[in-house]
Parts: sequence; structure tokens; C-alpha cells
Amino acid sequence: MKQTVLVSGGAGYIGSHTAVELIGAGYDVVIVDNLSNSDMSGVEGVEKITGKHVTFVEADCCDKEAFRRVFEQYEFDSVIHFAASKAVGESVAEPLKYYRNNLTSFVNVVELMHEFGRRNIVFSSSATVYGEADSLPVTEQSPRKPATSPYGNTKQICEDILRDSVAAYGSLRGIALRYFNPIGAHPSALIGELPRGVPNNLVPFITQTAAGVRECLSIFGDDYPTADGSCIRDYIDIVDLARAHVAAIDRMVKGQSKQPYEIFNIGTGRGVSVFELVTTFERVNGLKLNYKVAPRRAGDVVAIWADTTLANRELGWHAERSVEDTLRAAWAWEKHVRGIE
Ligand code: UFG
Repeated sequence: MKQTVLVSGGAGYIGSHTAVELIGAGYDVVIVDNLSNSDMSGVEGVEKITGKHVTFVEADCCDKEAFRRVFEQYEFDSVIHFAASKAVGESVAEPLKYYRNNLTSFVNVVELMHEFGRRNIVFSSSATVYGEADSLPVTEQSPRKPATSPYGNTKQICEDILRDSVAAYGSLRGIALRYFNPIGAHPSALIGELPRGVPNNLVPFITQTAAGVRECLSIFGDDYPTADGSCIRDYIDIVDLARAHVAAIDRMVKGQSKQPYEIFNIGTGRGVSVFELVTTFERVNGLKLNYKVAPRRAGDVVAIWADTTLANRELGWHAERSVEDTLRAAWAWEKHVRGIE
């Protein structure tokens, strides 16, 4: 019998790509989303790519009664919980929004899983939990550093909520995936990242600058202690990231977890500087980007990239797409959104 996975936040960027990969792997998907930072185009894109009807429920995971009705109505044993607010700067300005949204929705999902006896949950965590790491690459054993934003703090607290709940409630199994920097779009250009307003993240700012929506990209700092002076990150293709969720669900469904609560880094294992990313984007897409060097951005770590040995071995998952392919897909998506060519 086909297994069903509940995907909270499934209309959003990572959620929609994951829904496509789950369906491709033979799972049925129920998406629940309040569309606070997305719209139905994500769900429609999933349907176009897969050729399958997707069950969609518009509900806020913070509204426990509305969320309970989803548990009453649908049979699923596994949940992937994406639904959360994710802008670091906004979380500093509006911490209570972040604590309310991210913690309430997560407590609700875990409580409802316990109440209904649903077993497997994947939580969207972040490399932000490592802060400025003492040594690179970071493994899952690298220490978590005190969070530098309320957003980052909610990721740490939710990891702890999951660890403690799994320890207390025998039937529950959990996997926290610590994402590095997700970028790119589905190769079909039917789904991708749709930031509202001015993008906070590098790649949407690059593609919007290339499309003429933004005048000039600011590179935040060229005087960091790195080879070219810009910060280094581990940019993971969105489709590869989506496939990691399928691997995590497969592992729990097949009873292959070694511990009831597990953590995996999801990255490429390779650090790329901001300048390298910008010049690669220009090269693979045959265009010139208008950019300037600007002051450092508060709160940025100098460099981080993942040791992915554990995910490679235990999940049987590897990042496959090259940064070149990913940056081509990012540009194809931006052109699709803007109606270019
Ligand atoms: N950058 C620029 N110009 C921009 C945007 C970003 O130079 O317009 C630089 C940043 O300074 C950083 C790099 O590009 O060096 C990547 O920045 P992003 O904002 O794309 O990504 P971050 O690494 O800052 O953010 C990621 C995740 C967050 C997470 C954070 C933790 O997107 O969810 O890591 O540090 F919280």
C-alpha cells in the first residue's frame, strides 16, 4: 500500500521540491500550508511536474484545532515539517513572531503525532546551529553554538523538543536535517524560490539583479580571512536537498534508523565563496552582473561547510548536481517568473 506523507509548508520553496521527489518515489502527499510566505503556484507546479493531483489543505499549523482536523481526515504515518518563518533579520526585529510561529507549530505537530500515534517526523533544521565553527568542515558532532538570532534559536529549541519527545514517547522517531545553503530550482523551471520583497539570500538577489529587478548586488564584505576575502558557504542544490528528505523518510519507514532521533548534515561538502558563486553564475549563464562590494552584514559567519560522511553512509544520499547546473536552473526559474525570452 502506498504510504502518505504530510508535508507542512509544502507550498513553499523547499516543501514543493520535496513534494515532487516524494511523489516520484511513490509516496502520496498531503500538503498543509497557510500560504503566509507562498501561494498556490507552488502546489500547481508540483501537480504539473508530477502529473498527479496533490491534496492541499489551507491551514495554519499554529491553529491546533485546524491542524487536528488534518490528522483526523488523513491517514499518514510520516510528517515533514517545513512550516516556519525563516528570515534571520526579521527574527531579530520581531522575535515573538518567530517564537510563536516556529515553536507553536512544532509543538502542535509533535503533540498531534503523539495523540494520533503517527510515527515518523523529519524536521527542517539548519547549519545555523553551528554558528562560527571552531574547525571545518562541521560534523554532526561539532558543538552547537549559542544562537545569534531568534530564528536560529528556534531551530535549536525545536531540535531539543524533538530529541526529548522521541526519548519520552516510544512510538515516535525523528530525523533533523541540518540544511546548509539551499539554492536553485527544479530543472523544469515550474517551481523555485519566490521571495516576497527584497531578497535576503544571495542567489535570489543575484537572479533578480540579472533580470533587472534589482539594480546592483551588494557583496557583503571582501575583507574576511578567506582566499578572496568573501564569506564561504556550502550551497546545496534544492533537488538534491529534496531527495535527502525522501531518503530520511525511507529510512524511518523501513525501520533502518540506528537511533530513534538522528541528525544529518545536508550539504555538498564543498565551500564556495561569494565571489566564486557570482563569477560562476556569470560564466554558466553568459551574462555580466552588476555588483559592488559593500560593508559586512551583521551576524554573518566567515565560513562554513559540511562534512556529509554520515548522510552519505547512513542515508545512502549524495549531493549530485554541480553548482554550475544549479545556477543555470536558478536563472531559468527567474526568467520563467519574469517572462524573459
Ligand atoms: N550575501 C551577499 N549579498 C547579498 C546576500 C548575501 O553578499 O545580497 C552573502 C552573505 O553575506 C553570505 C552569503 O552571501 O556571506 C550567503 O548569504 P545568504 O543570506 O544567502 O545565506 P546565509 O548563509 O546567511 O543564510 C543561511 C540560511 C539561513 C540561516 C543562515 C545561518 O539561508 O536560513 O544561513 O547563518 F539562518
